[in-house]
Amino acid sequence: MSKRLVNVLFHGTGCYVPSVCWCDSKTFIAVPELLRRRRAMAVIIREFVDGDMSRVLQLLNEQRRGSHEFVPFAEERLLSLMREGRLKIFVAEESHETLGTAAYHDGHWGEEVEWVAVCNVPDGKAVEDALVLEVEKHVKKGKVFTTVDEGSPLVSNWISRGYRPEGGLYQMVADLDGVKPLPQVAKSFIIRSLRKGEENEFVSVVNAGFGWERLKSGEVQRWKVEAPYFSEDWVHVAECDGRIVSAVVAKQDVEYNRSFKGSRGYLGPAATLPDCRGRKLASALTRRAMNFLFEKGMSSAALYTQEQNVASVALLQKLGFHVGHHWKFMWKNLLT
Ligand SMILES: CC(C)(COP(=O)(O)OP(=O)(O)OC[C@H]1O[C@@H](n2cnc3c(N)ncnc32)[C@H](O)[C@@H]1OP(=O)(O)O)[C@@H](O)C(=O)NCCC(=O)NCCS
Repeated sequence: MSKRLVNVLFHGTGCYVPSVCWCDSKTFIAVPELLRRRRAMAVIIREFVDGDMSRVLQLLNEQRRGSHEFVPFAEERLLSLMREGRLKIFVAEESHETLGTAAYHDGHWGEEVEWVAVCNVPDGKAVEDALVLEVEKHVKKGKVFTTVDEGSPLVSNWISRGYRPEGGLYQMVADLDGVKPLPQVAKSFIIRSLRKGEENEFVSVVNAGFGWERLKSGEVQRWKVEAPYFSEDWVHVAECDGRIVSAVVAKQDVEYNRSFKGSRGYLGPAATLPDCRGRKLASALTRRAMNFLFEKGMSSAALYTQEQNVASVALLQKLGFHVGHHWKFMWKNLLT
């Protein structure tokens, strides 16, 4: 377990020596809010251990309650992300009392401060700042981000830590109220479902469309294992001259449906090879996927796309999607 001692010393006179000291790195962090406190305090920032689980879940769930489509964090979800090596959790404690938690996550959009949650203490912002600094030490590629609700007062906290708003994420939602005609595509394209044996080609098309490894090989197989309902039929593709050139995946929005007793479908990923764009392929496949979800009994469909993805947002709006929620990305460049 790695421990960082955050050593805050106050003198009765009101003047003080460095407020917070990270013992291992000898980095001093000014935490002016703590000046107001007239007692000595030692906050330790350390890595998560098994015994922290219930308190971390409590802090997180208290903080997130009321957020958009809030689903309580569950132990199994955190453990599986930690096992995959994508999540590192940190804890701030004082005199064996857990004050807060933060997490580093290496996800789809980059390296992220996944959360910072501190209990209601007078110097809570200083403890949050110390936790965020700990997460930043684990960033490998020099750039880190976090997400906040668009318009949230928390934006100013992140700006004070050197983060800047840049882009964001839309949840796009559409009602499904019938089977609608597909946008017309040229006769050279065949619109159909994926066939068994085409999984690798499908993964390559998606990754070539995104320009980075959006899906790992064997992903379709994993989806089948995770969700017994899932089969190749749920993957909608366009074929031209014997090769797949565009794809849109439909699924059930299992977590939402379980938590909110809904019947919502989920779409994504969607991608068209660069040389076949602008021919209505993604539009036709998205409509086909929406019709498919409707026929499976779903009453709405949701997906996530970046606000700066103008092609995706325009296409979705034409098909009846609207913004269900908007998160801003707050980015910090750690190399400057
Ligand atoms: C987004 C993407 C799937 C669109 O695929 P596509 O097959 O070219 O899409 P379509 O031809 O059906 O586009 C239809 C509509 O989208 C919009 N659109 C498409 N490309 C656009 C662009 N470059 N700029 C602005 N709008 C665009 C237009 O409104 C267009 O309608 P129009 O033809 O009447 O003008 C494709 O650009 C892609 O693979 N991008 C990379 C992966 C990605 O971002 N996936 C979506 C994230 S969830």
